[in-house]
Amino acid sequence: MTTPSDPLPPLDPSDWEAYRALAHRMLDDSLDYLRDVRTRPAWRPMPAEVRHALTDEPLPRTGVGDAQAYDDFVRLVRPFPNGNIHPRFWGWVMGTGTPQAAMADFLSSVMNPNVGGLEQSPVLVERQVVRWCAQLMGFPEGSGGILLSGGTMANVMGLAVARQERAGYDVRAEGHGGAHPRLVVYASTEVHGWLKKACELLGLGNTAFRRVPVRDDFSVDPAAMAAMIAEDRAAGLRPCCIIGTAGTVQTGATDDLDALADLATREGCWFHVDGAFGAMAALAPSLQPQLRGMGRADSLAFDLHKWGYLPFDIAVLLTREDAALVRTFSMQAAYLASETRGLMAQTGIFFADRGIELTRSFKALKAWMQFRAVGTDLLGAHIARNVAQARHLEALVRAEPTLELLAPVPLNIVNFRYAAAGRDDAARDALNRAILIELQERGIAAPSGTTIRGRFAIRVAITNHRSGDDDFAALVAAVVRLGRELSTD
Ligand SMILES: Cc1ncc(COP(=O)(O)O)c(C=O)c1O
Repeated sequence: MTTPSDPLPPLDPSDWEAYRALAHRMLDDSLDYLRDVRTRPAWRPMPAEVRHALTDEPLPRTGVGDAQAYDDFVRLVRPFPNGNIHPRFWGWVMGTGTPQAAMADFLSSVMNPNVGGLEQSPVLVERQVVRWCAQLMGFPEGSGGILLSGGTMANVMGLAVARQERAGYDVRAEGHGGAHPRLVVYASTEVHGWLKKACELLGLGNTAFRRVPVRDDFSVDPAAMAAMIAEDRAAGLRPCCIIGTAGTVQTGATDDLDALADLATREGCWFHVDGAFGAMAALAPSLQPQLRGMGRADSLAFDLHKWGYLPFDIAVLLTREDAALVRTFSMQAAYLASETRGLMAQTGIFFADRGIELTRSFKALKAWMQFRAVGTDLLGAHIARNVAQARHLEALVRAEPTLELLAPVPLNIVNFRYAAAGRDDAARDALNRAILIELQERGIAAPSGTTIRGRFAIRVAITNHRSGDDDFAALVAAVVRLGRELSTD
């Protein structure tokens, strides 16, 4: 049995100078890794021995030492990521990160504060980041917010606030079991999958989510939404929340947010906007008109780890009224009571009272340092350039007779396919799936795939500050080449 006086090897380095040398090597290697990212394939499959080592290794009851652990990381882990730091990664919606923000994550881990609250500078840093974000998104003084792990979490929490604020009764106290009318929420058929999960998690049930049809441009039909609300009201249900999307995951469409804000006001509903990536277009003055009405939302969720180019994970939930967050999430506990001075002074458990988590990391630092270092105007200029690149890719696709565009390109997402004349749609789908896999496995580029109105699309979502125009020309050339190659097989 261990006694207090037993000599134990420390968990901190026993030789700080030796560890310093190793840490410097880690830093140098990491900067080289980022600097040289373009020289590597966009993605590479894992060899069987790597998969085996990462799957079947026994629990290390005895350590191998810092240097060996790092070497194992270099050999087994670092070469095989999903690849979103690469200039030709355009799959799903993922940001690239920056070396500066990676360093900020390191500095934040070194401080290792608990940003649930307390009287400390990191809480003020997060509050400042939230305030800056509110300003960028056109939210008024008095608005509130919190940093979360991702768009899904930020949206789920936004819906939790909507439910508390517009249920018509105290959901925190009563839950959903009583005699109150059933709550319903409205969003387009193009809304991201978070909403179904959120309805399930919050106990609304996913049938409480009314799927409203979209128009030809994939934006929601506000008249159809109004008709569904009227129908539900007549059936004795309680319309609670209208959800608009700024930048849908499939095509980058933005709903008519002004029309939805009007409808929400008329109907007494909460208006939540999912702007996971699209809200960041607000940083580019030329794109702001597309987001008209977003600043009227009661709550807005968006990621900084997508089109803010920061490393995972960091997202923002803003609410028009700070108090709404507190009404939804505050808690009292003797062990967390505020004081007038000392560590529990003033801020108390500031963020833990505005969200679910009590212990929270200092993710704000990477946003704070990145914003300060380069300025939000430059981030906006990169966002505008990504949109210009999407238009450039659209033009390349239109100019190539063997390619076919499958959706409008309102923002930064391009859906297209190899047209394969003379084949039916099922054969075209199979061919384009094969083209996509070859693009990835040969390391040429990493778009993802989806189905648009029943047709398989190669989908390119550009939230990448490292892509150049040549990368899109190379993608088009590769798709045409692979299309020919695979159709003759
Ligand atoms: C429109 C939209 N909403 C929500 C999400 C979920 O965000 P996250 O992946 O950060 O949880 C995404 C992800 O791509 C998205 O595109």
